[in-house]
Amino acid sequence: MIKHNWDTHLYDEKHNYVFKFGEDVINLLKPQPGEIILDLGCGTGHLTNLIAEAGAEVYGIDSSAEMIEQARLKYPALKFDVMDATNFKFEKKYDAVFSNAVLHWIPEKEKVVECVFNCLKPGGRFVAEFGGKDNVKNVITSIRKILIANGFSNNTQYIDWYFPSIGEYASILEKTGFRVIYAVHFDRDTFMNEGVDISSWLEMFAKRIFEGINEDKKSELIELIKNDLGPTNQKDGKWFVDYKRLRIAAVKE
Ligand code: BEZ
Repeated sequence: MIKHNWDTHLYDEKHNYVFKFGEDVINLLKPQPGEIILDLGCGTGHLTNLIAEAGAEVYGIDSSAEMIEQARLKYPALKFDVMDATNFKFEKKYDAVFSNAVLHWIPEKEKVVECVFNCLKPGGRFVAEFGGKDNVKNVITSIRKILIANGFSNNTQYIDWYFPSIGEYASILEKTGFRVIYAVHFDRDTFMNEGVDISSWLEMFAKRIFEGINEDKKSELIELIKNDLGPTNQKDGKWFVDYKRLRIAAVKE
């Protein structure tokens, strides 16, 4: 699994819409008192905490040690551990697995679905939201164009997010033994917080794409991308990212 280094403060302070939108996914999960729920890719634990507030027993896992450290500091009463989403296994079986804004980071999607399936009770549910087909298309088109135009074609290999269609992801779920009970692929232009522009989004989420490029050049490329996206990704002077979400619920038969 690819390792990402997260700036947890930037995430919590400037990009907190990631977990604010996640509250809608919790409404689809409908956690019940007494249920045992796994939060897969829990980040700094905000949604894990909301699931716990609904009365469920919840366990948050994330591949990032930085995220887990923050989650433990913020929510000391909850249980969190560093774990690889492509390789986890528990004795205990779960009523549900929840995941928000995580699965697009993991190219080994079949392995993730297999691990989720194996840790659920029969009848257990998997509720997830992540980037769907054509997610952040303007941003990707611009990054690719600017990298190539400036002699960094090699770095385009790092544009490797996984954004499937409903059909593609539902097939993986069904092959594994899930029955898909809900699936929607919708547009959600997502406005950046006040005073935040696309540069900050790129610094936070596209860091790996600039691997091996020195800081000055990277800043120059980010400025070029920002200028390129100015006409398409701003409304009334506010920056937005052209998200397309895939929201899905499936049951282990
Ligand atoms: C997303 O949540 O859709 C996303 C976040 C970071 C990079 C790409 C996509």
